[in-house]
Amino acid sequence: MRPIIIAIDGPSGAGKGTLARRLAALLGYPHVDTGAMYRAVAWKACHDHLPLDDDAVVSALSREAQIEQDALGIRIDGHDVTRDIRTPAIDQAAAQVARLPGVRAVLVARQRAMGAGGVVMEGRDIGTVVFPDANVKVYLDASAEERARRRMADAAHTASGTGDVARVQDAMAARDRSDSTRPVAPLTLAPDAVYLDTTELDADGVFAQVVTLVRRTQNEPDTGPASS
Ligand code: DC
Repeated sequence: MRPIIIAIDGPSGAGKGTLARRLAALLGYPHVDTGAMYRAVAWKACHDHLPLDDDAVVSALSREAQIEQDALGIRIDGHDVTRDIRTPAIDQAAAQVARLPGVRAVLVARQRAMGAGGVVMEGRDIGTVVFPDANVKVYLDASAEERARRRMADAAHTASGTGDVARVQDAMAARDRSDSTRPVAPLTLAPDAVYLDTTELDADGVFAQVVTLVRRTQNEPDTGPASS
């Protein structure tokens, strides 16, 4: 079967990670969490005490850094940062570096290079910028309350267990605003993406709907490569 590119976008806590992992396992494709790439760059910039608003400095870091991602987690220049990138401080730092055009250009080029053999890629600009010709585009959304609740229940994130839903929801809203209003590659719904509101859906329900979409696409005649 021809390899396909599946783009999953949406705000944090909408269920992108769970869906992307399951789809990648089903199809035998790599799962690329592009948010983790922005987080790893932010972690390294903080670790090296670099100014998070200096595009030249942080894009040089993202160009030179070795970033490896697999089912076990993510490493940057040999540091396993899988856990350390899921903290409220890195939430903020990642949103800051994600605003820098030079950093985005470097990471988008890296992400495009990962699509050749088929990929499930999640982020904010996958269907709009990274792979505008992706074979399947899904935009996952959920109410702000539900997304904050999911973030609290996410054991991988240190904000879980704090019991402070209102604070998590406020911080999430601020980052969503930053992601959606930045001048470069803001979070927007691609016109040809399938919009799924997952507020009332469990992970199985979301997965079943998207698998139906994927199977339909796989059965369509090949109209050429999806990667640009
Ligand atoms: O999905 P996440 O919360 O791990 O993403 C971390 C930050 O990176 C968040 O502020 C959104 C940003 N991001 C982005 O700008 N573009 C992407 N493709 C993925 C994430």
